[in-house]
Amino acid sequence: MRSAFSSTPWYGGDYNPEQWPEEMWGEDVRLMKSAGVNLATVGVFSWAMLEPREGQYDFGWLDRVLEELHLGGVRVDLATATASPPPWLSHSYPESLPVTAEGVRLSPGSRQAYCPSSPAYRAAAGRLVRALAARYGDHPALALWHINNEYGCHVSRCYCDESASAFRRWLEWRYGDIDGLNQAWSTAFWSQRYASFDEVMPPRVTPAYGNPTQLLDFDRFSSDELLACFLAEKAILREVTPDVPVTTNFMGLFRGIDYWTWAPHVDVISDDLYPDPADPDAALKASMARDLMRSLGRGRPWLLMEQATSAVNTRPQNAPKAAGQMRALSYQALARGADGILFFQWRQSAAGAEKFHSGMLPHSGTDTRVWREVKQLGRELRGLGQVMGEPVPAHAATVLDWHSWWAIEQRGLPVHSTYLALIAPWHAALTRAGAVVDFVHGDEDLTGYSLVVAPNMFVATEAQLAALDAAAYAGSTVLVTAQSAIVDESLRVRLNGYLGGLQETLGLWIEEFAPLAGAWARPGFVPVRPEATIAPTIELLGELLPGGRATGVEWAEVVRVRDAEVKATFVGGALDGLPALTRRGTGKGAAWYLATRLEPDAVAALVQTMLAEAGIAITPVHDGTTAGWVETVRRGGLTFVINHGDEPVTLAIDGTDLHSGEPASGRVLAPQEVAAVVPPGSPGSSPMKQVVV
Ligand code: GAL
Repeated sequence: MRSAFSSTPWYGGDYNPEQWPEEMWGEDVRLMKSAGVNLATVGVFSWAMLEPREGQYDFGWLDRVLEELHLGGVRVDLATATASPPPWLSHSYPESLPVTAEGVRLSPGSRQAYCPSSPAYRAAAGRLVRALAARYGDHPALALWHINNEYGCHVSRCYCDESASAFRRWLEWRYGDIDGLNQAWSTAFWSQRYASFDEVMPPRVTPAYGNPTQLLDFDRFSSDELLACFLAEKAILREVTPDVPVTTNFMGLFRGIDYWTWAPHVDVISDDLYPDPADPDAALKASMARDLMRSLGRGRPWLLMEQATSAVNTRPQNAPKAAGQMRALSYQALARGADGILFFQWRQSAAGAEKFHSGMLPHSGTDTRVWREVKQLGRELRGLGQVMGEPVPAHAATVLDWHSWWAIEQRGLPVHSTYLALIAPWHAALTRAGAVVDFVHGDEDLTGYSLVVAPNMFVATEAQLAALDAAAYAGSTVLVTAQSAIVDESLRVRLNGYLGGLQETLGLWIEEFAPLAGAWARPGFVPVRPEATIAPTIELLGELLPGGRATGVEWAEVVRVRDAEVKATFVGGALDGLPALTRRGTGKGAAWYLATRLEPDAVAALVQTMLAEAGIAITPVHDGTTAGWVETVRRGGLTFVINHGDEPVTLAIDGTDLHSGEPASGRVLAPQEVAAVVPPGSPGSSPMKQVVV
């Protein structure tokens, strides 16, 4: 298969010429060239234009668009256009429309109005993909196939009758016979025993809590069902155009789809990410998605397929990006493994549902800040060929698993949890400390990481437990946090102290849970006897904690130590004196356990301890200790320093600034500014031309 990338990073965005008169297409391409655009994603929402009536194709306009782009030297990421079925599909096949858990059939008139299991949708999509592949497979502009668009973005679960049939087939495949299902779903509980697969339903709205394993299996099925749509399109494209790589755009930390199961099937991982410019932690949160994309591809370069040049129109208040913020976030993606920076969309729409969403070419044209920033970035990226294909070495690994995500957010658990709120603080603390973090599924070989953090791994398979154990024995520092390995993959409790095999690794077991939900935290609580209410937090004491103390929130466990050092204890209340943080030396490494959820300063302190024990030393390259987050990442021989804070910092790093050719040390990096530092004596250290905006 040919390479999905070029010698310099891809730069461009979604191009929707069908929204504009044909006379403007030439100007589009001329402006693209002046902005350094070398890749356009075409046809994402063009199905109704390409097939105005069932079976009647109109490719003439797309022929002309591709020709225009080709003559202008712009390559094409050609969409299969199946993300938004045309009105005729739901008119002729109303059963292809998706149905919610409440039984509401969704209407056409926006986009993504299809049931992933619908045979009519799949057949029509397949015909269109085959026609596109046959027509454009040899087109010289074609660089990449863009299958569908943001699978599951609006409809990731469908509860219609066709989905019900598909769910039953999936369950038969998974369990073989109905006894297997009854066993896995523990249907002896609440009289749910099934006599045959025909009786099984998708988890539509029920009077009380649904069967937990049924819910989890429906999450798994729904992810697999969308994957089946992707694979069906991919199979056609592979058959007709075996050399052309395929991608589909992921959506960062998107709950609906288990991207671990998808990633091996996607030639190029790509991502759409819209950090909120009004969120001071936007860049830190964005780094998590960038790290996930790199990790999904096991280090392969990925594509930032969509971002906004400025504001989106999807939030209640849509702040524009600050001057330089788009560039700073683009460099972040590049530094963290992206080999292309693209946007939604090229020309800001004049009509339709997204007309107030920014574009590369704004409503007000080229005499605008956004356009100048777009041109500057395009020009700079052309000078960054040296990062192409280069890996991003990571310091640590964090376990992220959709099964735990789905299961820990179910009802009927000791506390209500939001999975990402449990994972993100660990990634954020490691990242703020300057460590580059890979995400891992947890069942792969982890022994190459000197530090592995496994937060709230609620559902744990035997393979995950074994991988953590192996890493700890081989020399890694492994930190497992509370609420881990409580259930197996069928959501059956790991009896006799939870944790399964990790009891050995960690040298402890859990006697019971002690959730910290304070009575006054409950809506409608009336404090008749306030002195009798339960504290919603718990204090910890231990030398490793900042100032020797920390606060646990929401969750605590009664830990029974067999063979581990107690590094911190709970103070006060029923848990007074019981272990809160433990460490057990394991072979060449160590296994730590934290029996609560810590506030951010304590997470940061603990992360420092873990990094030190793992032998990970990170030297700061600037003096900015209090100025918000200054990101430092190394890739392709360059050190990228990006100031996401709101105060300037001064660089303290040898080498030259790639953009100016000046020595990097002593350079004052203003907020949103970026330095790409070439090490001293590096052959590729000729300066880029200074670009004046
Ligand atoms: C994405 C989508 C684009 C556009 C964009 C706006 O979800 O793929 O088509 O809608 O969001 O932010």
